[in-house]
Amino acid sequence: MKLRISVGVLLLAATLAAHAQAPAQAGTCVACHGSAGQGNPALGAPRLAGQQAEYLMTQLQNFKAARRGYDASDSHGAQMRAVASGLSDSDIQPLAQYFSRLAFSADKAVAPAADPQGQALYQGTCASCHGPQGEGYAHLKTPNLKILDSAYIERQLTHFVQGVRGAEGHADELGIWMRGISLQLAGENERKTIAHYIGSLKSAGN
Ligand code: HEC
Ligand code: HEC
Repeated sequence: MKLRISVGVLLLAATLAAHAQAPAQAGTCVACHGSAGQGNPALGAPRLAGQQAEYLMTQLQNFKAARRGYDASDSHGAQMRAVASGLSDSDIQPLAQYFSRLAFSADKAVAPAADPQGQALYQGTCASCHGPQGEGYAHLKTPNLKILDSAYIERQLTHFVQGVRGAEGHADELGIWMRGISLQLAGENERKTIAHYIGSLKSAGN
């Protein structure tokens, strides 16, 4: 009898696991973000697997409402805005949760060594909101940075500086906040140094 109950519990667990599978709309996402949400740098599509769910939700809402991807020069943002405009409000949370829960496994082999200048900049300017290991915080709706490729990070920092993301007048309060921070960095060199340092955080695991 005991055995039968355990088998029943196992079957139930397996059924529940099957139900926790991808929401239907995730089929559209994998074309650009990869079959496991790992991202595709060649397409400019960032990694979603292991990203903070709160952050993914905010961004999908932002794209849908044109608070992000509004600028004519932002071809990557425009692609994503087109996708998000086809989502209904009730699609967004399940998608965010699904991608957030996909495992992130750091490719330790490619993590560059930390350099002291990048470390000082990151730990002094960014860690208070993005965490000492770049992990992000749900309550601040900040993204996990260490899962992102450095070309994507650099592009976002440049877009914040240029007002292509987070400009006044587009109702993206958190983006406006982040734009203020990115304007404190001394140009392209510091943006590159910091993106490179964030890459080195990958080796710290997740
Ligand atoms: C045609 C390609 C394409 C498809 C399909 C696509 N995306 Fe994207 N997505 C992108 C690109 C490119 C970006 C980067 C935009 C930028 O640079 O601002 C992006 C960005 C995002 C972001 C912001 C991530 C971050 O770190 O800020 C989220 C969230 C996202 N996509 C979710 C999805 C979901 C969910 C789907 C499926 C419903 C999807 N995407 C389908 C190309 C795509
Ligand atoms: C005061 C808090 C705060 C600080 C300090 C801060 N950030 Fe952010 N950052 C945010 C928030 C909030 C967002 C989300 C913005 C949004 O929703 O569009 C963000 C977004 C980002 C993104 C976009 C990631 C993506 O997936 O598209 C990058 C890159 C980034 N921050 C890098 C940095 C770096 C590098 C520093 C240090 C120079 C830094 N941040 C300091 C709050 C902060």
